[in-house]
Formats: sequence, structure tokens, C-alpha cells
Amino acid sequence: MEIFLDTANVDEIKKISELGLVDGITTNPTIIAKEGKDFETVIKEICNLVEGPVSAEVIRLDSEGMIEEAKEISQWADNIVVKIPMTEEGLKAVHQLKQLGIKTNVTLVFTVAQGLLAAKAGATYISPFLGRLDDIGTESLLLIENLRKVLANYGMDTKIIAASIRNTKHVEEVAIAGADIATIPSGLFSKLWSHPLTDSGIEGFLSDWEAFQNSEK
Ligand code: E4P
Repeated sequence: MEIFLDTANVDEIKKISELGLVDGITTNPTIIAKEGKDFETVIKEICNLVEGPVSAEVIRLDSEGMIEEAKEISQWADNIVVKIPMTEEGLKAVHQLKQLGIKTNVTLVFTVAQGLLAAKAGATYISPFLGRLDDIGTESLLLIENLRKVLANYGMDTKIIAASIRNTKHVEEVAIAGADIATIPSGLFSKLWSHPLTDSGIEGFLSDWEAFQNSEK
């Protein structure tokens, strides 16, 4: 499974890239707003740092507007993917952008039907949101499992980005379910690589080694 970072924070991207864990980046208007910088500047900065796909979202909600924005955004760098909301207008835009060779990531996918339509319209990626489904008490993992089956049933090459990831269990479960990618907020990484038994194990090994060294003296 590939790992994308769900952030527009350049320092966080640099830090986690040093571990060789970053295959791409996803952003949304909320994430960009947090950085307090100009949209184009931030996205270009990220595209210079990361070789993999970088998703940047449109703001307009009509298909013509989305296409206009997508044409502009896609010129900012070679690795741009234009993020389009899962609406009727969004599907129309995705269909036309596919003809233009512009890669898309259809966001805010909450049902199998939405994912199937986005894939059929020509989306490069679909982003089903787990955490937000959990928030309303709906089983989220099943969405990933079912989308995986549907895309496989029909040999569709649209990739599944498991999004709105909130915890370690989400990451583990979507990997088992066969998501192509998980997009993970940077704050979650330390929880992914650490475990109290790893820490106490290291402590035990070192204190045993120290005791042995002292007994040799
Ligand atoms: C993904 O592309 C979205 O930007 C993101 O995962 C949304 O996560 P949230 O539901 O935690 O805001």
C-alpha cells in the first residue's frame, strides 16, 4: 500500500519524507487554509519536494468552473492531481478532464455507488472517507472492502485512496482490505511506528547489557 501525507505543511512533509514513507500528498481547502499561505505558492512548494502525486482541490462547484480551475492548477507542476468533489457537476468535470489528460481525485466519497460512478466517469483516484463515516456511526471499513471488490469485478484501474484516516486501526484495516493508498495526517505517524513494548524492550535490553558490562569489570 502506498502512503500519502494528508497535509500541506512543508516541515511535516520534509520530516516524514526523510523516513522514505511519502509516496504522495493530498490537500483540501481546510488543510491549505491552515498554512495561511497562497494556494499556488504552497502547492508549488510541495510539488518541488515530493515526486509522487500531489492533490490540489478546486473551489468552484459548476463543471465549467472546475474545468477552468483544473486546467490552471494542472499547469503548476507535472505531478498535480486535481481534486474534484463527488457531485453531478464533479462527474461531468472528471469526464472532460480525462479527455484532456488531466488526472483527478474524486473526493468526499461515502458510498459504493459514488465510487463506482466516479471510476466510470474516469477518475484516476477516488477518496472514500473513513473517519467521517465513523463519526456518524456508519461502518467505514466495509466501504473500502466493497469498493475494492467492485473495481476488481470490472477491471477498473481507478485507485482507492483511503481518506479521513484517524487512527492506527484505520491504517491497518485499509491495508488488509486492499486500499491502493492511505492518506494519513502527519500527527498519526508517531503512533504508527511506536509501541510501548518496543520502548520497554529497548530499555530492558540496554539495562541487561549495562549490568553485564559492569559484572565484567
Ligand atoms: C483527504 O483527501 C481529505 O483531505 C482528508 O483525509 C479529510 O480528512 P478529515 O475527515 O479528517 O478532515
